[in-house]
Amino acid sequence: VGKVYLVGAGPGAADLLTVRAVRLLAMADIVFHDALVQPDVLDLAPQAEKIAVGKRCGAHSTSQRFINKRLADAAARHPVVVRLKGGDPMLFGRAQEEIDALAAAGVDVEVVPGVTAALAAAADLNVSLTRRGVARSVVMVTPRVGEGESPHAWARAAAAADTAVIYMGAGEADAVVAALTGHGMNADIPVVLVENACRPGSFHAAGTLADLAALSRRRGDGPAVIVVGEVGRALALAAAPAFAEPRRIAVAGR
Ligand SMILES: C[S@@+](CC[C@H](N)C(=O)[O-])C[C@H]1O[C@@H](n2cnc3c(N)ncnc32)[C@H](O)[C@@H]1O
Repeated sequence: VGKVYLVGAGPGAADLLTVRAVRLLAMADIVFHDALVQPDVLDLAPQAEKIAVGKRCGAHSTSQRFINKRLADAAARHPVVVRLKGGDPMLFGRAQEEIDALAAAGVDVEVVPGVTAALAAAADLNVSLTRRGVARSVVMVTPRVGEGESPHAWARAAAAADTAVIYMGAGEADAVVAALTGHGMNADIPVVLVENACRPGSFHAAGTLADLAALSRRRGDGPAVIVVGEVGRALALAAAPAFAEPRRIAVAGR
């Protein structure tokens, strides 16, 4: 009976995988991967059968059930089954559904962490998400909520943190701004949109929360996160120096 490894593929660059991930890919009999996983990462498992599963922004529940079943079936036939997920498997990746389903089927699971998009974005920007004296808390949130989840919880959490990194929100900038300002966030707070972090074609655009829709229109169709908070102030001011004087941004302490 095989084992399923939920492996973090990181933000896209093959050389940002962990050594453990690379070792497992080289041993894998079969690899199930998300749409965001790049071809050069899959090249690390030339011997393995590769199966694309999942939609770009997370599979919906019927196909998720199908993925769970395929993983369990594969473990009945192969010793090393790799489930490769973009970024870190445990963040916004439906890992728990797979872990629970495999446990229920009696299949062993091991998780291998990866570099999540928020940290890849911070690296691309050379901006610490916890800059001393400016930010002491970070949240990772998404406006995409599942059935039965509060549509407000993410914005409340984002407004309460010093730095918020928003996943899967760049395509709905107006709704993001409305939700955050509705929870008391100042429209003058710096934001930086980062597309394709740590991948070829990496792009970022900085401004204030009020500018988010305009910033978002400048991006392409790659995956993007939005970094909201005072840590992005230098980038926001560099992008729009005119803001520095007339629009003195209220300092943190929201
Ligand atoms: C289904 S979530 C998976 C997140 C993943 N588990 C992680 O830890 O990064 C997909 C979202 O992650 C973000 N994302 C993933 N890769 C990214 C990248 N290289 N640059 C910017 N954002 C990325 C985007 O917000 C994208 O819509």
